[in-house]
Amino acid sequence: CGIIGYTGTENDVQDVLMTGLSGLEYRGYDSAGLAIANGSLAVHKREGEVSKLESALPETTLDGVAGIGHTRWSTHGPPSDENAHPHTDCESRVAVVHNGILENYQSLREELTADGHVFNSDTDTEAIPHLIGSALESGAAPEQAFRQAVDRLEGSYAVAAVFQGDETIYVARNESPLVLGVGDDGHYLASDVPAFLEYTDRVIYLEDGQFARVTPSGIVVTDEQGAVVDTAIDTVDWNPEDAGKSGYDHYMLKEIHEQPTALRKCLRERVSELEHEITVEELATLECSGSVQFVACGTSYHAALYGARLLRENGISAQCFLASEYDAQRIPITDETLVVGVTQSGETADTMGALRMANQAGATTLVLTNVVGSSAARECDHVMYIRAGPEIGVAATKTFVSQQAALALLSSELSGSEAPALIKHLRGLPDKLQHVLDESTAQAVAEEFVDADAYFFIGRGYNASVALEGALKMKEITYKHAEGFAAGELKHGPLALVTDQTPVFALVTGDTAAKTIGSIKEVEARGAPVIAVTDRPAEVGQYASHVLEVPDAGPYLTPILANVQLQLVSYWVAAQLGRSIDKPRNLAKSVTVD
Ligand code: G6P
Repeated sequence: CGIIGYTGTENDVQDVLMTGLSGLEYRGYDSAGLAIANGSLAVHKREGEVSKLESALPETTLDGVAGIGHTRWSTHGPPSDENAHPHTDCESRVAVVHNGILENYQSLREELTADGHVFNSDTDTEAIPHLIGSALESGAAPEQAFRQAVDRLEGSYAVAAVFQGDETIYVARNESPLVLGVGDDGHYLASDVPAFLEYTDRVIYLEDGQFARVTPSGIVVTDEQGAVVDTAIDTVDWNPEDAGKSGYDHYMLKEIHEQPTALRKCLRERVSELEHEITVEELATLECSGSVQFVACGTSYHAALYGARLLRENGISAQCFLASEYDAQRIPITDETLVVGVTQSGETADTMGALRMANQAGATTLVLTNVVGSSAARECDHVMYIRAGPEIGVAATKTFVSQQAALALLSSELSGSEAPALIKHLRGLPDKLQHVLDESTAQAVAEEFVDADAYFFIGRGYNASVALEGALKMKEITYKHAEGFAAGELKHGPLALVTDQTPVFALVTGDTAAKTIGSIKEVEARGAPVIAVTDRPAEVGQYASHVLEVPDAGPYLTPILANVQLQLVSYWVAAQLGRSIDKPRNLAKSVTVD
């Protein structure tokens, strides 16, 4: 879910909320709503995308100084007008937006219902305005009522409330993201910086357990006891342009094309221009004497598989786990273990859960993330930023590439091995990626195979994780059946699915190429069209019906380029099918519930 709030006079409150909601849609888009406080509270909400809310608003702009808005990704209760936020108390004195999950909402709801409160939705959130309403009835002032209500909450929340006839927005956070924006004559709050970046780049990151009183003239942050906390104002260096589509049809395509820049940002100052040296300042104090365990989800998990393989290549014992399985698999953790979370958003609940478990078990924790000030960045012992810039498309592209580059740097830092060849290839990688983008024939391949029954992806070693990622991307944005396999596994089952209607994308690079060619022959014999993604077209071309060529960037990095060809194939298949590429059905950019 995404939250936006604004109070002030430098901008029109309805404009700020609607702009913020559009910028936050990638966090959830099954319903949207806003509340603006003036003499009374104007609340408007609709199931569906933000554009539906926009058409449901009155023709004349809503009056008021303070307002809050929300885009929802359902956790309790299906998408509907009633379940959309904001939620109010019985008398409509307070409106509340919330991101997170309240674990004790059932008992709160029973207690409040027994007290005569009538609930209008199935959400856990609605308990909050009713709790506030109860406190108001007992004579509490708005701030007190808000704090008393938040004190009763168990679970995760970023919560914001506005009261009838009040210019203040009250906020609190626990385990869900919330950032405050500092303007000249107005102040902002949101789940994520791009929601208000158009108006200000000065931000305050709220910590777990903190509250804030946001007024047109200032922000006061307090701790759980109510004591005022000194907070630093940070300046973010993302410009609003970065958060727009820059002329591309979709954010995803724009982000695919931003990859050379993203890579340069990731490598800048870390890979020396002249000497064979890799220095990641953030990792200066990181020590690793034991084994390394990676935890991650989705695309980040595929990057983590790549990272673990790189570390092992450098003689470090490394394993990779799905964050959602970390607890259930009873993984031994000691104080010698280094647990590395890989998470674009730094907010994924499953990954946060695994990292918190590792912290508690005494391991050293490191996170590779894209979001400065994210929960993971704040809670881990060490943080390395991948510096990819904001990624709006739900399907991760540029962050995957930046994660892989960052993992290559990490492997060099941890092993102390500064392989000159790796450094040389890292420096050349952005230009080679640009070459792939300029020369790719992926669109033609996509057009030819758009009607296929299913798509299979095979590769070995580093390319096995690229195969998994290729299939995930295809599923996410085309809604078609796609599966990725370590090429050797094909013969142990999946081969039964292979027909002339199932194109097979084979990743043929590095020292595993010869064996993968063997797998190509197996599928070719079953009549499947084979699209080879390779740095050796002459050799491999004879076994494949199509070739998507990539430059040679050495054994460790060429798979990163191969993945870019697969991103483009998925994009163009989805575009042909007219899919909702930036916001695929049922998916959210950042899944902050476990
Ligand atoms: C969601 C997104 C995926 C992403 C995964 C992990 O499921 O839809 O694209 O890979 O979360 O996100 P993270 O922010 O932890 O990398």
